[in-house]
Amino acid sequence: MKGVILAGGLGTRLHPLTKITNKHLLPVYDKPMIYYPIDALVKSGVSEILIVTGGNKAGDFLQLLGNGAEFGLKHLNYTYQKGEGGIAEALSLAEHWAAGDSICVILGDNIFEKSIKPHVDAFRAQVSGARILLREVEDPERFGVAEVHGEKVVSIVEKPKQPKSNLAVVGVYFYDNHVFDIIKTLEPSSRGELEITDVNNAYLRENTLRASVLQGWWTDAGTFGSLLRASNLVAQGGANNP
Ligand code: DAU
Repeated sequence: MKGVILAGGLGTRLHPLTKITNKHLLPVYDKPMIYYPIDALVKSGVSEILIVTGGNKAGDFLQLLGNGAEFGLKHLNYTYQKGEGGIAEALSLAEHWAAGDSICVILGDNIFEKSIKPHVDAFRAQVSGARILLREVEDPERFGVAEVHGEKVVSIVEKPKQPKSNLAVVGVYFYDNHVFDIIKTLEPSSRGELEITDVNNAYLRENTLRASVLQGWWTDAGTFGSLLRASNLVAQGGANNP
């Protein structure tokens, strides 16, 4: 399994902080945001990692991370997303690099209290299809929200005005290589993006989507409130803990 970290987009919700730098280089407590998803993958045994970046400060990632020696890596891979065409568009840039392998995708602004290794292992055992993680939240309208019947996910709606549950889809996704065929069939959403939620719904329709509930806290860091929350949570007990 290969790891893909999505760190493109323009981070406009964090203006003016992101006017002169990429969101994922901003500090979360004592480290740049991008350190957390790299650490999450490395601690899960995923060492082949591609970072999709974007904006006009993309070169700063190289300067900061180099070949990933700080994480015990021999090599880090980079690619560049022009503009802000959506999470699924950013992921499509990984097709060549994935070279037929399955992938674990992490959104560059998502931070986890506990190691995601159990989920990486679960997807290795699942072999094909897709796997998503759900977490109860108080503000589901900010996220992709899963409508569930018992343990079965029946649909996922991106930022619903009237959420059918409080189960948000967190920013870690596991896909087999079929994901790249699915992305080619997508149309931009009303916000002009290729949506990861549409990818997950395609797997749902094919009946190959599995979901499990995440333990421990989880937060994004893409708004002023969540960026502050992320720093406070990390300061209290660290991230990616066993
Ligand atoms: O945090 C989890 C949520 O992330 C999910 O529940 C949603 O279903 C999913 O759509 C996403 O929602 P957001 O609207 O919060 O995503 P955002 O636009 O903030 O992008 C999240 C990360 O994805 C961002 O840190 C970098 C990457 N990204 C995003 C876009 C739009 C890219 O690499 N390229 C892009 O064009």
